[in-house]
Amino acid sequence: MKVGFIITTTIGAMTGVGIWFTVALVSPSSIGSLIRVFYWAWFTEWLVFVTEVVLISIYYLTWENANKSLRSKLKHIRFGAFLSVASWITMVVIVSILSFMMDPGNWNTHKSLFNGFTNPIYLPQLFFRTPVAMLMGGVFGMMLTTIFTKKDAAIRAQVVRLGGKWILGWTPFALAGAVYYWNAMPEAMKANMSTAIGTMDFAAYYDLLKYFIIGATALSVVLAIWALWKPQRVNFALVVIPCILIFGFLGIFERVREFVRKPYVIGGYMYSNLLREEDYPLYKKDGILKYATYTSVQEITPANKIEAGKNVFMLTCSRCHTSNGINSIVDVFEKMYGKERPLDVESMVAYIPNMHQGRTFMPPFPGNRKELEALVAYIKQLQVNGESLQGAQTEGVVVNPLQNMEQAAKQYGDTLFLLKK
Ligand code: HEC
Repeated sequence: MKVGFIITTTIGAMTGVGIWFTVALVSPSSIGSLIRVFYWAWFTEWLVFVTEVVLISIYYLTWENANKSLRSKLKHIRFGAFLSVASWITMVVIVSILSFMMDPGNWNTHKSLFNGFTNPIYLPQLFFRTPVAMLMGGVFGMMLTTIFTKKDAAIRAQVVRLGGKWILGWTPFALAGAVYYWNAMPEAMKANMSTAIGTMDFAAYYDLLKYFIIGATALSVVLAIWALWKPQRVNFALVVIPCILIFGFLGIFERVREFVRKPYVIGGYMYSNLLREEDYPLYKKDGILKYATYTSVQEITPANKIEAGKNVFMLTCSRCHTSNGINSIVDVFEKMYGKERPLDVESMVAYIPNMHQGRTFMPPFPGNRKELEALVAYIKQLQVNGESLQGAQTEGVVVNPLQNMEQAAKQYGDTLFLLKK
């Protein structure tokens, strides 16, 4: 239980809090939107989380005394049960946010917390994740049993057999949940599945990967049957592989969920480049630089074209592409047009405005014609100089002068300044 409760809860608390630092850097606008919609859900979750912390503290501090009598032992175990229920309630709240990002349902027309919470993927995802969590608990518990009990101890066989029953009992629910979830997923998301699981390079192996996942999941069922049949023969070596696989799949499922909802970060509302869908017509007309909070260029001139292109890249591609690292913008174009030749301006200018049609996981290009040309000029230059972009921590940030009232007043005169006011 020390591993099962204390360590997992501690890791959960650290990563759960840590993720706020990451998402606030990577995706500040979407987090801002989510907080506005789910304010009370997160507030409730905060209360549940504090309850969990209190319960885990009680559980930990009463541990030794619990061994004094049967009564106190039972009480101790009951606190453990409360803790498990509180953890599940966390899931009940947080899953609504994750599924909302995939498909907000009618929230896009009636923007209320209730509509956001009861989105079409909420229940399917909850019905899938609950039994899967139970399965993981079973396999993990079985592994801990093989570590912490003696090989011939009667209790070991008893616990292993119970674990087997537990896994077999939850498996049908996990399967039913998977089918329910799959059917609730919009077609556009299923179309992203092959890239989501293995990236474009491995998309051809998608079927293989799919069967590998199904096969490896089936392994825990085989393990469960073996545990019922020959509990004494279940040892660490036998459990560790299904255990690693099932945790590995948890990682894959997370990645897939985050990927399939692309090009959106919040379905039908905000694209993964953090621009709202409803603002697109404005961007297409006036360009994105004018309305961006962080940019060093607002008006493109021949002299600042490359710098402007860099800003366009930062605003429209850099959530997913780097300048010369993973999924580098030069690489993806070289893969299409060949490494040997310099990138061709015309092909790129023709490609980018249509990229969201062929590769549906990418948002449409939001900018105007001039910005498109600046972006292409920048990428072309990147191919030659391989420059890497420094992060805000070294470069600092440049706030768009137009977002600053006094500067804007200087540039456009007092009329605009007053209008904006
Ligand atoms: C939401 C994330 C996202 C954004 C934003 C994005 N891309 Fe992509 N792009 C991807 C992913 C993912 C791939 C495929 C990577 C893989 O699996 O190899 C890709 C692939 C590409 C490819 C190769 C396509 C092919 O068929 O081989 C090009 C070209 C490309 N992106 C250009 C751009 C440009 C230019 C921008 C900015 C205007 C941009 N992308 C913005 C995610 C994004």
